[in-house]
Amino acid sequence: MGMTQADRVAELVGRLTLQEQAALTVGDGPWATVAVPRVGLPGWRMTDGPNGARGLYRGPAAPGVLCIPCGTALGATWDPDLVRDVAGVVARETRRLDCRMLLAPTVNIIRSPLAGRTFECYSEDPVLTAAIAVGFIEGVQAEGVVATVKHFAGNEAEFERYTIESVVPERALREIYLPPFEAAVRDAGVLAVMTAYNRINGAMAGAHRGLIGEVLRGEWGFDGLVVSDWWARAETVGSALAGQDLEMPGPGRAFGPALVAAVEQGLLPAEVVAAQATHLIGAFAAVGALDDPDELPAWPADVPDRDHLAEPARRAAAESIVLLRNTGVLPVTGPPARVAVVGPNAAHLQLMGGGSAHLRPTRYPSLLEALRATWPGVEIVHEPGCRPERDLPVLQGPELRTGTGEPGWTVEFLAGDATGPIVHTCIGDVTDLDFFGDPAPGFGPGAYTVRATGFMSAVPGEAYDLCLTADRPVRLLLDGTVVATTPGRYSVTAGSDEIELRLEFDGPADRGPCRARLGVAPADDGFDRAVAAAEAADLVIAVVGTNEEEEQESLDRSALALPGRQDELVSAVAGTGTPTVVVVNAGSAVTLPWADEVDAVLYSWFGGEEADHALVDVLTGATDPGGRLPMTLPLRVEHTPAFGNFPGEFDEVRYGEGVLVGYRWYDTRALPVRYPFGHGLSYTSFEIGAPVLRERTVDIPVHNVGHRAGSEVVQLYVEHLAPRVFRPRKELRAFEKVRLGPGGQHLVRFELDDRAFAYWRPARPTRATAAADLAADSPFRLADDPGEPGWCVDPGTYRIHVGRSVDDISHTFDLEI
Ligand code: BGC
Repeated sequence: MGMTQADRVAELVGRLTLQEQAALTVGDGPWATVAVPRVGLPGWRMTDGPNGARGLYRGPAAPGVLCIPCGTALGATWDPDLVRDVAGVVARETRRLDCRMLLAPTVNIIRSPLAGRTFECYSEDPVLTAAIAVGFIEGVQAEGVVATVKHFAGNEAEFERYTIESVVPERALREIYLPPFEAAVRDAGVLAVMTAYNRINGAMAGAHRGLIGEVLRGEWGFDGLVVSDWWARAETVGSALAGQDLEMPGPGRAFGPALVAAVEQGLLPAEVVAAQATHLIGAFAAVGALDDPDELPAWPADVPDRDHLAEPARRAAAESIVLLRNTGVLPVTGPPARVAVVGPNAAHLQLMGGGSAHLRPTRYPSLLEALRATWPGVEIVHEPGCRPERDLPVLQGPELRTGTGEPGWTVEFLAGDATGPIVHTCIGDVTDLDFFGDPAPGFGPGAYTVRATGFMSAVPGEAYDLCLTADRPVRLLLDGTVVATTPGRYSVTAGSDEIELRLEFDGPADRGPCRARLGVAPADDGFDRAVAAAEAADLVIAVVGTNEEEEQESLDRSALALPGRQDELVSAVAGTGTPTVVVVNAGSAVTLPWADEVDAVLYSWFGGEEADHALVDVLTGATDPGGRLPMTLPLRVEHTPAFGNFPGEFDEVRYGEGVLVGYRWYDTRALPVRYPFGHGLSYTSFEIGAPVLRERTVDIPVHNVGHRAGSEVVQLYVEHLAPRVFRPRKELRAFEKVRLGPGGQHLVRFELDDRAFAYWRPARPTRATAAADLAADSPFRLADDPGEPGWCVDPGTYRIHVGRSVDDISHTFDLEI
């Protein structure tokens, strides 16, 4: 009989010395595990992240990689099978970049729409999040890549994220925050879990014996790799005993040689270190990586088969677009003579959020250009009408040219300081330069200098505002003159129809993160011109939204409104009386105060690099808008569940809303919302027929009674009519996306298991003390025996709601348990 994979792993670990096992517990630099050539163990490389496989490099010299729709967009598809296809593409990209582990998916729950990383998450609901995550993980791991579900747990904001204590009631933890991780382990067999930066309920997430040891490893039986978040604080003995295996990036602080010392001092059993090595090697062995060669990857080239790879990304983007409102103006099947395209995101769609999920896409979509290509005979006038104030937009595409007239700017990398030799030259697509690790091929260790030069188109005599952001000293030259050496706001008046830009700075010798960014916008925002263009047009398409400065890792948003004058702009263009379609390009919720003034609203998230094609497909009716809201769009921030408990204060964030997260809050408290969870219109009409119940099986006929093909998401919510404990009113327990041609019919079948009716009974550590405190002759008694902690289904009547959103219920019926 041949050796099983587990035997091979055990044999390998057995051949490693304690020192070698401990060496495996820290990374080899930022993106790799340590190799042990003595026993033929390769080092494996890993890459962020949820938006696509970024690879080991950042910056303009890095290869372009496919940028898929963001997390909320994938959540909005309500389609785990489609997400499986998209994730498969990301995994193939991961392999192309010589990596074996992908730092995704992010399954933290959307607790507040202000959380900076909301765009990475799938939903405010655990059942939807879990289903999408399972699809994603299966798609990744089927291609031989270790998926990493993150961030475990209680990481629902960016505020003081390395130190804050998340105080999460046990019921909320079990009913809302843990189920996606549980499904990742139990249903998808995820091979890696990343612990969070924050503390949670009394311990650091990466040293939490209850969460890692008891729940993840014990209850759920996880025997894969537990990896820290990058630079998270860890405890040598505490984190090892809790069950964490790998500290990233290397060299380590708590693990590595410190573990050997702890074993030698008798503070840690040697078996714990052997188990850490076993978990790490086992996770990679499970994707067939034991025989990988251990060569450093060559600097990879651009994606060879982009169009083939892009197809699922385009489908997912279209399937994520939510039609919130439509008075009949959409789809635009015969375009009118004159269309005004306004709004700051029209010429450049925001395709992803900021932070570790950010990557260099293979293309930068423009809805304006896509519409011009789709409607060649139509007169399309473009006016941005306002600008995002924070950091101002970067220049890209046609606004930026190299000396030889190509789009972009020329980026030179020099060894040492600005007098050093040029090691590499390439074309950068945007005025944003962002590095971590080697900046370009051909660099040995040591300092480097970056010099970017290009020309921006300008209108002679027009004033421009500039916003320079950088984490280091920089030099900004305009037409050869130094205008700035520190980050800040500057302005310039164009002398001719172009301005030469040059940005120079030194990169860090230790290859740590570094970034310099130049935002540019005309001082006159063109508001009046946009309104005039709307007035003169037959149709307005307003493309508003946020950007990667508003929505990014390590910073929460400060307001729910669209930034700048965008709300004012939409009201003004709609006020002209010209039919107005609004496309909202944001990763999280924004308030839509003008929703009832316009003719149609499409919510398109950060749709990745195929977002332009997807939007054209939906606007023209080539595709039905397939998205449904994975998060509530609230009327105002004061109504949001975490308001008052977000982002935290005095070093802690109390999850004071308990289990009333997302729609559970608005629905239970009967609060009005702008658009409810689950909402989204189709261009066709569906009839959801009367459900038929047999035992715990629910059959629901669905019929496309319209004249077009389209999709409906059938949603089933459960309500306990007279609960003993406080419960949210309705809770999503099952859903299915149905696609039907005109006249088509389908029978949806849901099987309801115990968990569909269950709540979590928390441990009552003070009960025994309370009982002992009651004197034998006391007239007072403790209430009934609360029983063991765990999932609990109380007998009683449960009302089942079947519908197309939490607020649009077609049928209800009762079920006795
Ligand atoms: C993020 C992780 C990411 C890691 C590596 C951290 O700052 O929280 O999500 O995977 O960096 O880039």
